[in-house]
Amino acid sequence: MRFSENFIQEVVDRTDIEELIGRYVELKRSGANLLGRCPFHSEKTPSFSVSPTKKMFFCFGCHAGGSVITFVQKAENLDFPDAVEYLANRAGLPLPKESEQLMGNTGVSRKRVFEMNLEAAKFFRACLFDERLGAAGMQYLHGERGLSVATIKHFGLGFAPDSFNALTDHMHRMGYRDEELIAACLCGKSQKTGRAYDYFRNRVIFPIIDPSGNVVAFGGRVMDDSKPKYLNSSDTPAFKKSKQLFALNFAKNCCAEKMILCEGYMDVIALHAAGFEYAVATLGTAITPEHARIFSKYTQKVIISYDADDAGQNAANKAMRILGEVGMDVRVLKLNGAKDPDEYIKRFGADRFRQVLEQSKTGFDHKSERILAKYDLTVGSDRIKASNEICALIAEYWSGVEREVYLAQSSPALGLPVEVLKNTVEQIRKKQTRAYEAKQSREAQASVKNFGDRINPDAAKDPRAAAAEETVLGLLLIFEEYRNAVERGEIALAEEDFVTDFNRRVFAAIMRMHRSEGGLRPELLGMEFSPDEMGRIEKNEIARQQLSNNGPEVLRSAVNVLKDAKQKGNAGETSLDERIAYLRQKQAKLHKGKADKT
Ligand code: CTP
Ligand code: MN
Repeated sequence: MRFSENFIQEVVDRTDIEELIGRYVELKRSGANLLGRCPFHSEKTPSFSVSPTKKMFFCFGCHAGGSVITFVQKAENLDFPDAVEYLANRAGLPLPKESEQLMGNTGVSRKRVFEMNLEAAKFFRACLFDERLGAAGMQYLHGERGLSVATIKHFGLGFAPDSFNALTDHMHRMGYRDEELIAACLCGKSQKTGRAYDYFRNRVIFPIIDPSGNVVAFGGRVMDDSKPKYLNSSDTPAFKKSKQLFALNFAKNCCAEKMILCEGYMDVIALHAAGFEYAVATLGTAITPEHARIFSKYTQKVIISYDADDAGQNAANKAMRILGEVGMDVRVLKLNGAKDPDEYIKRFGADRFRQVLEQSKTGFDHKSERILAKYDLTVGSDRIKASNEICALIAEYWSGVEREVYLAQSSPALGLPVEVLKNTVEQIRKKQTRAYEAKQSREAQASVKNFGDRINPDAAKDPRAAAAEETVLGLLLIFEEYRNAVERGEIALAEEDFVTDFNRRVFAAIMRMHRSEGGLRPELLGMEFSPDEMGRIEKNEIARQQLSNNGPEVLRSAVNVLKDAKQKGNAGETSLDERIAYLRQKQAKLHKGKADKT
């Protein structure tokens, strides 16, 4: 975890839950709580409840719930540390210094990882420029790929010698320990000896540098056809592939107007060398919403220049959608006569590339041209297929204005009146809305029952015990005196008494936190539980709160149910037949519920 518990607590304390959630949902007072329409599923009557005193939220419809951090995780699609950072920025709290942010439980700080990476980058570069050690690497980059020495130096490219200990020995000499090198993913850990060995071997090396100038990771390419073609540092808490863009450290200085997004390191390097210094690439992963947010921070317009093959073009469609969702102006380049930008520039030069760049198409034009090109519009059946596909494409746009513009544009191309196309588009949209709503209500129903419980799949094994566990957890979450009683052994309850894994984890976390200095702080549970799991935890608490009797006898009898279940469990697991019978019964109930409604 990057942040200390105290820092997280401070962030939560400084966040006004009403103001935060109020920006997404219209909230009205309802007793001690606030009520609104859930932002996480579609509903007509409000079932989304916010407790300003507890600083927690819960939706009675879809069972989303948790702390202000959980809310930001879900609403902004962020992981826990990033949601904390988001709220800290909002509250104007300065982030703790990087040197104080630890990487997970390795005990190695981000700053230390960056130090090691910088040292390793220097080592790889020295190897590349070493006439003996780096000859093969230089021959590949300069000779075969045609990169100038200036470009190689600009990007800090390097070479990892064909050795299991070249880097490791060097780093040892610089005072770094095996565990640190392994945590930074510069070394692998030998299964046999447990010692560190060089992760990158016999590869040319591309350092990945973040906008602040930290070397966050490396990509390494083989120099022949062996596999894998590229090896990348794995994710560490200091580095997530889904949040980095290659060459953003350079591009950030000249990208206010537009950026080019390509697939590969070599494409970016070729583009920069040809003067397009606003090109970046993701690191061997598809573009994520996190990337999209980075783009929106730096630029207005993204021109996607993926490989010309089908895989590249399909990936471009997906990228368009993800970038469109953050409101970017997105364009697409289709390169003819070359498989990727790197090859295009080699073959046709920078000026030609600049020309195609200027003619880049909007997402709709690009996609509709791909559809039209597939069909012979003079043939009736083809024209119908093309019209249907174009209408489906137009139906995807949320804005009515956009739909009108594209309808007007497509009508002459297809030779069909706008009104006819418009009807089709509206039909598709209606059907999609209905399908979406049906799916939502199915999911909500399924999650009410244990049947198909994604969060606690074990519940089907012994539903009675699972229900007792939920009672216990709800009570422990609400009442400190019960936590004390368990802690002091007055109520004999231990992790082993739990039947389901999920509830056992929740119990362990509650008690661990209860024993810690700061006591139980529900928002900190988000450090180990996903937003969906947080919803379940919150549900257990709310379910108990709504009951009038929460006395010690309720807790004792629930604990007894667990003890019974354990004895039965020891005597022999529930038989498969019993479990199947249970699932059938649940399913029958589910169908009956549906039938009653209709
Ligand atoms: N990639 C990866 N792992 C692989 C293959 C590809 O991480 N096994 C990533 C790399 O970031 C690479 C990008 O996907 O840059 C695009 O892959 P590809 O088009 O195959 O590579 P190019 O960049 O075109 O590399 P080259 O021109 O050197 O073949
Ligand atoms: Mn390539």
